[in-house]
Amino acid sequence: MRKVILDCDPGHDDAFAIMLAAGNLDLLGVTTVGGNGYLPNVTRNALVVLEKIGRTDVPVYPGHAGPSTTELITAPNVHGQSGLDGPVVTEPIRKPETKHAVDFIVETVMSTDHVTLCATGPLTNIAAALNREPRIAKRVDGLYIMGGGAYAGNWTAAAEFNIYVDAEAAYKVFHSGMPIYMVGVNLTRQCPVTPEFRERLRNLGNVAGVFGAELLDFFGDGRHLHDPCAIAWIIDPDIITDAYLHVDIELNGTLTRGMTVTDLRFLQTEVPEKDIDLDSPFRWDDSPVGSPFRGKEPNTHVAMRLDFEKFCDLVADTLSRYN
Ligand code: RIB
Ligand code: CA
Repeated sequence: MRKVILDCDPGHDDAFAIMLAAGNLDLLGVTTVGGNGYLPNVTRNALVVLEKIGRTDVPVYPGHAGPSTTELITAPNVHGQSGLDGPVVTEPIRKPETKHAVDFIVETVMSTDHVTLCATGPLTNIAAALNREPRIAKRVDGLYIMGGGAYAGNWTAAAEFNIYVDAEAAYKVFHSGMPIYMVGVNLTRQCPVTPEFRERLRNLGNVAGVFGAELLDFFGDGRHLHDPCAIAWIIDPDIITDAYLHVDIELNGTLTRGMTVTDLRFLQTEVPEKDIDLDSPFRWDDSPVGSPFRGKEPNTHVAMRLDFEKFCDLVADTLSRYN
């Protein structure tokens, strides 16, 4: 089983990422970061989710409350005031660890081989860990993020929420040399909440299935299950088709701050007969195939296509295996 640290801001979709990771990976720890909600809330929510699935053996380490250079933006409009509104839950029995998330990430990566990082919130903790110990960039097997988008955003027309909230942290991460696997909103728009999926989970009949359905009852049909897509990619590399492209973070654009500027000119697959749709992992420029690159070398594995049926089966199977 791959060893993973999950940095998150639960958040309804982060909760699914935690449940998927705990049921399929060697989840070394969960670290929390201000994002969907304030740090105390998202930390409490991580403890709640782990208790719900009977995994109180997984430690939770609180991290940074928000960006170091800008004010924290939260998303109560999506996740409610608690960050996990909807299901009726009891307060967690466990307390979070006293060690800081950044210390846990650095110490674990420097002492353990083949750790994979997954970040499903703003990249504040990941950037802080790189500032503290740049060598982690080359020691990890990879950093899988839910963040950004190959050609559009969701918080602004150009920027996705996690990147927008702490664009400076994202810039640091994308310039660190860490192997990055980016699950952007171009991918997660292929992963909608459906009534059929919600009822499939409820009909599992166990605590985890009913909890998952109640999370989705609040989260709402048609919303996208962003964060578990990043964990699913770690569990099953074939569940996502990606393209290796150059990505950089816009910091100064009036309209584009927080955009993951993705150079689609590197798509080297043959141009298909049919028109290229936004999700096709095919070439966008019209230079002859094999032309020399006109831009910077690719630096990011950009998720382009999701096997949605396989994703739904993975989530349902995982939740069915909890008590
Ligand atoms: O833009 C979607 C992302 O922002 C998800 O990670 C969601 O949980 C929020 O953090
Ligand atoms: Ca999140």
